[in-house]
Amino acid sequence: MVHALYQAQMNLFELVKAAPPDPILGLSEAFRADPNPEKINLTVGVYQDADGKPPVLPSVLEAQKRLAAEGAGKSYLPISGDPLFLQNTRSLVFGPQSHLVEDGRVASVQTPGGTAALRLAGDFIQHGLGQRTVWLSNPTWANHKGIFNASGLEVASYPYYDPETHDLNLEGMITVLEDIPDNDVVLFHACCHNPTGVDPSIDNWDTIAKICKERRLLPILDFAYQGFSRGILDDAAAVICLHNHPSGNPEPSREDIRITRQLVEAGETMGIPVHDHLIIAGTEHTSLAERGVIG
Ligand SMILES: Cc1ncc(COP(=O)(O)O)c(C=O)c1O
Repeated sequence: MVHALYQAQMNLFELVKAAPPDPILGLSEAFRADPNPEKINLTVGVYQDADGKPPVLPSVLEAQKRLAAEGAGKSYLPISGDPLFLQNTRSLVFGPQSHLVEDGRVASVQTPGGTAALRLAGDFIQHGLGQRTVWLSNPTWANHKGIFNASGLEVASYPYYDPETHDLNLEGMITVLEDIPDNDVVLFHACCHNPTGVDPSIDNWDTIAKICKERRLLPILDFAYQGFSRGILDDAAAVICLHNHPSGNPEPSREDIRITRQLVEAGETMGIPVHDHLIIAGTEHTSLAERGVIG
């Protein structure tokens, strides 16, 4: 009997096609195998010290010490995550005295890392808001396309980097953003754009926010590196600008209300209470620092 089951499983698994090798990890293997002492690894973006080890931030070491001393339990978290982590993440992202947070207009969910946060955002859009295209910067982090495709969403791209000037192609970006169909989703890197390192200025964010507002686009901010560029607050410029859009209309329009309602309904079907803003927070702030990972 056991043998027959085993046979049946073997036949089943024969149908499985091998996934193609990961291009980045394949390069890392090639790097390890290369005996050249002058070699430099430009594949995975990780801070390394002179001995090739990722440094651990003193704040992370201190947090680990305190947690160990407290003997914190390892039980399950509530479905939407650790309430204290979520509360502190909201203050970090929107600022400690944000009226949005105080008015209860921000909803948050914790996920295991940034990749899962993006996937949850993708599933949330697909299940709750229906088929929409997600617009990604060109170039963008290599996994963005795969994550949104895995949620069943189409992706497209908008210009971002100008290889001639090594700077932001703001004009190209604006031209395409202004043409994106109503209610499509646009993903921005809030700071430390991966892979170019080029970020919009505060003025640029104002312009981008205004277009999102006028074109009724739904922005997603991938905020993997808060504090790694100009500082905790300055790095949040995109969040602030996209909320305080300069279109001069402080009152929400009917369309805003419609989109917000759609978000709320979508959230409710997925068990997520949603208000104006949904933070899907990876445990990136800890794990990123812990691993010394920047890309
Ligand atoms: C822009 C961006 N978003 C998301 C992630 C994924 O984060 P995590 O490693 O926590 O899944 C990365 C990691 O490289 C990234 O660079």
